[in-house]
Amino acid sequence: MQNLKDLEALLNSSIPMVSIESREERRIVSLFERLIPHVHRAFFRWTVTEGLKRMDVDMPAQLHNTKPIELLTQIKLTGDAGVYLLFDFHPFLEDHVVIRLLKDIAQKYVDVPHTIIFISHEIRIPDDLKYYCVPYTLSLPNREKIEDIIRSEARTWSQLNKDLRIIVNKELLGQLINSVSGLPMDDVSRLIRSAIRDDGVLNQSDIADIAQAKFKLLNLGGVLSFEYDMAQFADVGGLDNLKEWLAIRKEVFRAKAAMPGLDPPKGLLLLGVQGCGKSLAAKAVAGTWGVPLLRLDFGTLYNKFYGESEKNLRESLKMAEVMAPCVLWIDEIEKGISVGDNDGGTSRRILGTLLTWMAEKKLNVFIVATANDIHSLPPELLRKGRLDEIFFVDLPDKESRENIFRIHLDKRKQDPDSFDLPLLAEKSEGFSGSEIEQAIVSSLYRTYAMKQKLNNTQILHELEITKPLSIVMAEHIEGLREWARDRTVMANR
Ligand SMILES: Nc1ncnc2c1ncn2[C@@H]1O[C@H](COP(=O)(O)OP(=O)(O)OP(=O)(O)O)[C@@H](O)[C@H]1O
Ligand SMILES: [Mg+2]
Repeated sequence: MQNLKDLEALLNSSIPMVSIESREERRIVSLFERLIPHVHRAFFRWTVTEGLKRMDVDMPAQLHNTKPIELLTQIKLTGDAGVYLLFDFHPFLEDHVVIRLLKDIAQKYVDVPHTIIFISHEIRIPDDLKYYCVPYTLSLPNREKIEDIIRSEARTWSQLNKDLRIIVNKELLGQLINSVSGLPMDDVSRLIRSAIRDDGVLNQSDIADIAQAKFKLLNLGGVLSFEYDMAQFADVGGLDNLKEWLAIRKEVFRAKAAMPGLDPPKGLLLLGVQGCGKSLAAKAVAGTWGVPLLRLDFGTLYNKFYGESEKNLRESLKMAEVMAPCVLWIDEIEKGISVGDNDGGTSRRILGTLLTWMAEKKLNVFIVATANDIHSLPPELLRKGRLDEIFFVDLPDKESRENIFRIHLDKRKQDPDSFDLPLLAEKSEGFSGSEIEQAIVSSLYRTYAMKQKLNNTQILHELEITKPLSIVMAEHIEGLREWARDRTVMANR
């Protein structure tokens, strides 16, 4: 209803041009069709393939008007006021004759009120025409409207399928609504319809598919990426404190409405030794909480959008909000916002943009930032209250190493119980999770080449010939631990 009222007001307000960025052509046509009885002017629609066609009376299309210049010339010469919906006209807005004709039409508005409506997925109005043109954004369906759409798609499917019913409980309904909100009506219907039609049910797995599809629809070349490769905490050895911290916050994070007196968790920083599972843990947060994982890549932000980094960061953060509830993973955050001052202040401003957003964000976007290098981290980020907690991810202890062996042997179709895990854990002191994984993979290659079955001895041999980072970088790691001691919480118990 709001859209109808707005558009009617626009048509009655002596504005000669309106631009609508949208892919919802059908919906726009039907909105304007409903305006025909209220606005006493002739209505036309135009495409480059079909030419000009009356919308208010049944008449064949005027194919001789497919060419933009001929079309505009005809509009300019027409003495009867009209409303012209021009679909995908944006490529022609670069032509100087087209621009001049549009200007002529606009300037004659007082004599003959023609309104030109541009409808394309993306429109750049030339500077010469900006004075005459008003951009209009179609409003998005609210939660009630989305619920109606879901119910109506489910009803339609039931009618087509011998009254088989689609059951959706309240929690799933809430999650479905979250997963499509922020999308225009057509897309909501389409995603829900295909979720129902692929298997005749609406369930949890549809939520993940819808989130992916929504991301594709909304993200046109930004710096956020949708991570398909999520992990579960069962894939992570050790880090028990971190796992527990996250487990007790899961419900509050996923709850639709805020709990009285409890803010949803904001996020955390994982700091620590290389290869010990920081990135893996970030993926596991999203996997375990069952929400999409979006990755923010500062590298792309600086390279691709040179000079426009802050604007693009802001857009990406807005995008994350549309995808909420979700996890926003900022890997190696120090690379994007290091304290160095030799980039003309860009990284300072980026940090400022990020911190402001973190302070203001209301929606459930949980940040997981990871970092290796504490010295380049700005103190503002580490200040209490910015993020909920800073965890230090140290080398795994013996019990965690046993676990990591179990996880990675199992992953590679080896029966963990046929290995002496306590011995392997003992002999891998100082190894990171990644080095343990590497030792398993290397010995698997070796045994495969020798046509043997993997056993303890081969892995022990691999451990012996490996010099772990903890030896190569002993000082660096000690320095990290020293720094972390009073400032962070241990991720391992
Ligand atoms: N605690 C762990 N449990 C299970 N696997 C682990 C663990 N730590 C590391 N790994 C294995 O090592 C790989 C690399 O670890 P990951 O990338 O998470 O480390 P990181 O701490 O992010 O390292 P970096 O600081 O180099 O980015 C993981 O994908 C996983 O296969
Ligand atoms: Mg990492």
